[in-house]
Amino acid sequence: MRLNYPVIFPLNQLTYVGEDDSAFFCQIHGRRFNALSTRYMLPADEEEVRRSELQHKIIQFLFNGKNYVGPIADILSPREGQERCRVLDLGTGGGFWAIDLADEFPSAEVIGVDLAPIQPREVPANCTFELCDLDQFYLPYPSEHFDVIHARFMHTGIENYSRFLHEIARMLRPGGLVILIEPDTEPIADEKSASHFTRSGQPSGMRGWFTLWETYRKCLRDKGIDVNIPPELSNLVASTGAFNRIVSQEGNIPIGFWPKDPVALSIGQLAWMNYDIMLPAMKPLFLSAGMRDWEAKKLIEEAHQDLYYPLVRASSRLHIVHAIKKAK
Ligand SMILES: C[S@@+](CC[C@H](N)C(=O)[O-])C[C@H]1O[C@@H](n2cnc3c(N)ncnc32)[C@H](O)[C@@H]1O
Repeated sequence: MRLNYPVIFPLNQLTYVGEDDSAFFCQIHGRRFNALSTRYMLPADEEEVRRSELQHKIIQFLFNGKNYVGPIADILSPREGQERCRVLDLGTGGGFWAIDLADEFPSAEVIGVDLAPIQPREVPANCTFELCDLDQFYLPYPSEHFDVIHARFMHTGIENYSRFLHEIARMLRPGGLVILIEPDTEPIADEKSASHFTRSGQPSGMRGWFTLWETYRKCLRDKGIDVNIPPELSNLVASTGAFNRIVSQEGNIPIGFWPKDPVALSIGQLAWMNYDIMLPAMKPLFLSAGMRDWEAKKLIEEAHQDLYYPLVRASSRLHIVHAIKKAK
């Protein structure tokens, strides 16, 4: 273990965050946010780090205890006479994935990059965290530099996702692996499980839940985010022309305590906890979009009510894509 003080890009000279990191945060409507981007509008505080850990555990359950899909172990196996392998985790959040990867592959060098220094300061010796707004035309890393690039749950901070993918392709070495995981922002409710229906056929038990997600999607669109990125992920990767062996998977994440299968139940419980924290975290976005305090409060309260007392089985959809960069 060693102490990590994240480095900040893109400055002419590298600057270390240091022990007092208050300059890298700001307050918005009573929550702590990153100070680098106004596009990504979820907080950067302890609650969000807790949520980032819950998301990490959900994925581990989904991947049968593993942290990844695709041939990572093969790509990161040390080869005699070759440089250390390099891994980049874009939008690393609390750094859980980066730290686990660094622990699992001690011979690889792992960099996690985010808008805010919310990662632990004690990290494995082969793990480093950096700060950078990745919502830009050029990313500050060399070409063909990384063996693996991972970006998870972060499309809501990137305006031009196609460009982002081109940058990922540029930074990967030929034969390198990209792993992308993004959740739909459109909720799913199993109508067959509904005990009450409205005349339109939409489950009455989830009206608050549906309204909240519709509002969230509108606010994201107003901030320039394409909310259709997750279901389009695989097509977007293909359209860069830079990858082959593109594998696309979808996972349904149950929300709540309804699954009978023990693994699905664990995922449902973790997802429920994730949304319990996420709903209030959306309030600053709603207020910044011009909603009045009481309106935002009501919107969140009604969605919370549906989360706590669901009349239908709710779930969300995850899009998982991995691909290999073509050889030259
Ligand atoms: C929901 S969290 C997910 C964290 C982590 N990837 C995980 O899966 O646990 C999204 C993270 O992406 C980061 N992020 C979003 N937009 C970003 C951007 N433009 N540049 C850098 N980081 C960004 C946020 O700061 C946040 O920590």
